[in-house]
Amino acid sequence: MSKRTIRDVDPRGKRVLLRADLNVPLKDGKVADDTRIRASLPTIEALTRAGAAVAVASHLGRPKGPDPKLSLAPVAARLETLLGQDVRLLPDCVGDEVRRTVAALHAGDVVVLENVRFHPEEEANDAGFARELAVGFDLYVNDAFGTAHRAHASTEGVARHLPAYAGLLLEKELAALGGILADPERPFLAIVGGAKVSSKIDVLHALVERADAVAIGGGMANTFLSATGHEVGTSLREPDKEEEARRILRRAKEREIDFHLPSDAVCAASPSAPAGTVRDVDHVPAGEAMLDVGPATLEEYARAIGAARTIFWNGPLGVFESAPFAAGTKRIAELLAASRATTVVGGGESVQAVEELGLAKRFTHVSTGGGASLELIEGRTLPGVAAIPDRG
Ligand code: 3PG
Repeated sequence: MSKRTIRDVDPRGKRVLLRADLNVPLKDGKVADDTRIRASLPTIEALTRAGAAVAVASHLGRPKGPDPKLSLAPVAARLETLLGQDVRLLPDCVGDEVRRTVAALHAGDVVVLENVRFHPEEEANDAGFARELAVGFDLYVNDAFGTAHRAHASTEGVARHLPAYAGLLLEKELAALGGILADPERPFLAIVGGAKVSSKIDVLHALVERADAVAIGGGMANTFLSATGHEVGTSLREPDKEEEARRILRRAKEREIDFHLPSDAVCAASPSAPAGTVRDVDHVPAGEAMLDVGPATLEEYARAIGAARTIFWNGPLGVFESAPFAAGTKRIAELLAASRATTVVGGGESVQAVEELGLAKRFTHVSTGGGASLELIEGRTLPGVAAIPDRG
């Protein structure tokens, strides 16, 4: 069942409360990466072009009450530049002053409300606060895919008080990520990296049921290798997750899918080492850690990528923030960018790698969601999505 979107309503003359995910990294008080702000533009522009006035609500960081360092001021300034029109930041997201300003907005106006998480009621999904957020608006549009896994007042509660619609980004994310789960063109390969098995157990279980091949990298590969009897030296590993890793491997065997683990690794005493040594995973010295996948592993993964028609990638293959151990992650990003398969990347660090390499445009879809994209792949209901009525 598809969700109602802004295409299903005429917003002319309406005041729209738009929840976007403008939770972007800041550096020295400035926006360090505006990907999420850019991703929110199509919905804002569609609404203003159609004659709506738009108030954009978002969180930024995880403040415990008002915190000037987490003001949306730099975000509003960036949005103003990108939209090429005045964008005022209001001092709060609720209250009389906000209400008066919203009442005076004209068609095409855009304002940004101050960080919704300055109010603890936001994360508590407080019913009174959700009602207050809605005051003065005619419509609610949720375009905050990255926060759709949170049942907060501005993502879930407020939808009970206004006619609710999905924005264009939310629609696109659901189509791309939902599509690879529901009906992927096969073979479907999932590449999963990142530090820990524990943070990805549910996603691994979901993928092992649906994919035709799974390739593992990053710190979590060490737990799988250790679980299958390899000595992993000082590599990051989670001994209490080895049984879980074996369960996942058993299920892959039952389903007769290819489950790729690294056969070699770039090893060093620590991630701050100036360089690493390529070693077979059977010969990792006691004092060294596996910090990136090695060339033989990359060759094997390249073959799997070449054979796949749909590829989902989440998580770096090595300690990619440290240059000597970034090659595996970079190579995977390049191979996917060059692939003719449907390529979808989700999750903060792998997306960051794709953006930094300037490869984002060559992927079918680069998700703006970290936790949200994983929960969707796990098959969970996202509260922010569930709150929007289905298309009637
Ligand atoms: C994210 O960056 O993953 C989203 O903006 C959600 O942020 P949160 O994890 O602080 O809820």
